[in-house]
Amino acid sequence: MATNITWHPNLSYDERKELRKQAGCTIWLTGLSASGKSTIACALEQLLLQKGLAAYRLDGDNIRFGLNKDLGFSAEDRNENIRRISEVSKLFADSCTTSITSFISPYRADRDKARELHKEAGLRFIEVFVDVPLEVAEQRDPKGLYKKAREGIIKDFTGISAPYEAPLTPELHLRTDLKSIEECAEIIHQYLINEKLI
Ligand code: PPS
Repeated sequence: MATNITWHPNLSYDERKELRKQAGCTIWLTGLSASGKSTIACALEQLLLQKGLAAYRLDGDNIRFGLNKDLGFSAEDRNENIRRISEVSKLFADSCTTSITSFISPYRADRDKARELHKEAGLRFIEVFVDVPLEVAEQRDPKGLYKKAREGIIKDFTGISAPYEAPLTPELHLRTDLKSIEECAEIIHQYLINEKLI
């Protein structure tokens, strides 16, 4: 960390929340590739925006085109990927936006650190396990990545040759092979209403 830097006090989160009439938070979607994270995130973002609420989506593939283009898929790079996204998502939540992240985020410890970071800032962190059996994700294979992983063309592929540590106590657990995308987005929407986050 650099020296000779000074933290500038900001408008407090509570003051901003009062002015914005919306509590920011992070909806943290985690799950295998092709589990439906990005599609649910899009549906939820759309739903909230149509209601005139502030919502913003941070997506695994997209962020790797810019902010995290220097990172690959080793365990270390995934740790760093999630660390940076946790910080960015915290900023959006602090701005009283519903921040929706869709990253595989395969390591429990990394997700727990993201939760801790939000907690320290007094911000809500809602972990959503986007769950689907591996066989179903592999059948879907929209980008052909599972096939390549099975053939050994892609190394360290989550669920095949790299681990996925499922959440133990997520706030929400969605089975995308049993529910539609719209139903999943609506479950999260209702949760936000019940928790008075929107
Ligand atoms: S992570 O594990 O959270 O750092 O991954 P994330 O940033 O979400 O990026 C996942 C997307 O990258 C593509 N991809 C891979 N996924 C898993 N393992 C390997 N080796 C890999 N290589 C490329 C893939 O399209 C993932 O997107 P989703 O939307 O999850 O299918």
